[in-house]
Amino acid sequence: MERLQKVLAHAGVASRRKSEELISKGHVRVNGTVVKEMGVLVGNSDLIEVDGVPIYREEPVYFLLNKPRNMITAVSDDKDRPVVTDLFPNIEQRIYPVGRLDYDTTGALILTNDGELSQLLMHPKHQIDKTYVAKVKGMIDRKSLNRLEKGVVVEGKKTAPAKAKILSADRSRDISMVELTIHEGRNRQVKNMFQAIGHPVEKLKRESYGTLTLDGLQPGEWRELKTFEIYQLRNAATQNDTTN
Ligand code: URA
Repeated sequence: MERLQKVLAHAGVASRRKSEELISKGHVRVNGTVVKEMGVLVGNSDLIEVDGVPIYREEPVYFLLNKPRNMITAVSDDKDRPVVTDLFPNIEQRIYPVGRLDYDTTGALILTNDGELSQLLMHPKHQIDKTYVAKVKGMIDRKSLNRLEKGVVVEGKKTAPAKAKILSADRSRDISMVELTIHEGRNRQVKNMFQAIGHPVEKLKRESYGTLTLDGLQPGEWRELKTFEIYQLRNAATQNDTTN
């Protein structure tokens, strides 16, 4: 569900502030009833009208991108650096990334114009598993993995339980490859977790997001999600709701 004023703004009716004005002045109906208070939540199936005219809501679209390195997870950048939506030049809908990957991180990133699903997926209580492969400095041992799995303190707060596995270790280069699955989405979380155990990340890739993997996608390539994949994502987010 999304706030009514945000949906109006997204649909191009008016700016967020002007949309709030339209609401408070009684111009907006939701499912036939005038709504004047702020903060009302609406979903994809609600009929929204402004002065009796239904608003046009874009057809929801869903993509999985294999984000390349050196690209910002945003729709625009004030310093004119490349952003992930540059890779979708022919898509008319106003899509945006769900969550973020760092500039130098590669891998699975969902882009959509479905604000409702996007919020569901990003909410920490919904616990979508995200699996990363990190190339880290040093020879990592079982004890360090246990620390990652149990949770380490990052910026004053312990991370939630995770799953970790050593994929390979190269003593001559003093490098380990580690797979880490987490369901939180704090800023720079994976890098901070490895930093906390004394193994800084040199390279990071998100291999999967929920059940979605990068199979068949080279960096910079994307594909549309299939209906069952969207269903699975929505289901995973609602089933894992720890407040239910
Ligand atoms: N954790 C990080 O540290 N960076 C990312 O890009 C994603 C998760």
